Amino acid sequence: GPEAEAEAPTSRDHLVQAEVDDSDSYMTSDVGGPIGEQRSLRAGPRGPTMLEDFIFRQKLQHFDHERIPERVVHARGAGALGTFTSYGNWSNLTAASFLGQEGKKTPVFVRFSTVAGSKGSADTARDVHGFATRFYTDEGNFDIVGNNIPVFFIQDAIQFPDLVHSVKPSPDNEIPQAATAHDSAWDFFSNQPSTMHTLFWAMAGFGIPRSFRHMDGFGVHTFRFVKEDGSSKFVKFHLKTLQGKASLVWEEAQVVSGKNADFHRQDLFDAIASGHPPSWELAVQVVDEDKALSFGFDLLDPTKFIPEELAPLVPLGKMTLDANPVNYFAETEQISFQPGHVVRGIDFSEDPLLQGRLYSYLDTQLNRHGGPNFEQLPVNRPLPSVHNNNRDGQGQQFIHRNIHQYTPSSLSNGFPAQANETVGKGFFTAPDRTVANGGPVVRALSPTFDDVWSQPRLFFNSLTRVEQQFLVNAIRFEASHVQSELVRQNVLKQLNRVSHEVAERVATALGMTAPEPEPRYYHDNVTVGISIFNNTLPTI
Ligand code: HEM
Repeated sequence: GPEAEAEAPTSRDHLVQAEVDDSDSYMTSDVGGPIGEQRSLRAGPRGPTMLEDFIFRQKLQHFDHERIPERVVHARGAGALGTFTSYGNWSNLTAASFLGQEGKKTPVFVRFSTVAGSKGSADTARDVHGFATRFYTDEGNFDIVGNNIPVFFIQDAIQFPDLVHSVKPSPDNEIPQAATAHDSAWDFFSNQPSTMHTLFWAMAGFGIPRSFRHMDGFGVHTFRFVKEDGSSKFVKFHLKTLQGKASLVWEEAQVVSGKNADFHRQDLFDAIASGHPPSWELAVQVVDEDKALSFGFDLLDPTKFIPEELAPLVPLGKMTLDANPVNYFAETEQISFQPGHVVRGIDFSEDPLLQGRLYSYLDTQLNRHGGPNFEQLPVNRPLPSVHNNNRDGQGQQFIHRNIHQYTPSSLSNGFPAQANETVGKGFFTAPDRTVANGGPVVRALSPTFDDVWSQPRLFFNSLTRVEQQFLVNAIRFEASHVQSELVRQNVLKQLNRVSHEVAERVATALGMTAPEPEPRYYHDNVTVGISIFNNTLPTI
């Protein structure tokens, strides 16, 4: 309501306190003394520079340390700030406070990215695109670290380094377009058929979006919404673009990357600067937990999406990006998204890819920021103040007064107190959450993750003829850069399991022959696939 609107912080308010305004100021050293002349101190006009010149040393030293490691993936990105407004009180679905009231506003920061390119790569290279959203809620930061494609290449996090090594520039010459790099990527894809589904999306227009404004975002994994009473349901997060979806065609993408490698970054910045703020609708698909296996695939399998006919989107609110960062490094570069940044009312699922991500982002950010206090950086600080016994470390920004920095303590007057004992709140793991018990300890995925061919077929069949042609052209283009005959054959073998038609159309262009159709992979119902477990289809 209007009350919430009046009090709500707007896009940048929470960062303004950290801003430095140089107008009407004079130059100082890092420790505050006024600096006069911008010249180094010399022993006579033609003599050597003097070591005692701390102003000179400080300036070069700071410059020498300006860079931090780029992100190991998603290094190239562009950020924007804005506001999320809840359409209603969604306590019937979740205890998350930012969804608890109609009209409630929450500041957000979004970073769009490509995955494989380095920080200076071209915006329009064909790639999956990152769509990471942070909600600075009044109960802490919630991040949806998503992509513009609803599924992912692999099912087990232990394979992520292999996937990334195979798609990064060739390790000998660091050339992304090298034939060796094409061979590696397609060698991995064709040996790891769980990649087929995401690959099909990336080869269709989703790999070369028209702009960041024209992309949807997806949380990919199944998460849980937990209500105040502790009951929970599975959810999939969607951010639906209100600009409409659009992509480039490959020829445009190639020309644009030569004419303006910053095409997407500039489009976003200019749209916001010129008063055309882009918007997205946050929506969820909600599924009862006992339906996890009832769609003919496993809801814990990140290579599968839930067709909207089986679980309709529930729109929860609207996000509008209306402010540009004022300093790229301090905001877009230093922001540190994590799938583990959840708030009360949102819980994880047992998706084995998600579980691996919960470790990886924190670990890499310790490396990227060089220490454990990166959550204290202005762009990472939550709106509520932070009270706990985490102390010291490199780059500590706060002066903690509490001498009794441990718990339990009888001497600290009980502060900081447990939130459940004061405000009656605390993180909670859904109490009715269960795990499969009793089975053997195995290094294997559940057989319910086995069918990786049906959904790419479903996706292909859902495209128009023109879109299908784009997809086929893209695979032809990329596969024609593969030098290894063996890898090309492996690619055709996997394509053939998705669709004999696609395999034939690609084979023709490569001057090869498609394998014979494999009956095991063909069936009538593309949604349920070759499901190897007993399932009952839900009523649509
Ligand atoms: C960034 C790891 C899967 C979306 C990153 C980063 C790492 C990483 C290390 C760099 C983070 C940083 O330096 O701050 C992994 C691992 C995965 C995985 C180990 C699987 C096991 C995924 C999936 C998605 C995704 C499935 C999409 C749902 C993103 C996005 C970013 C990112 C959007 C960029 C965040 C930003 O803009 O700062 N990932 N990732 N990743 N990842 Fe993943």
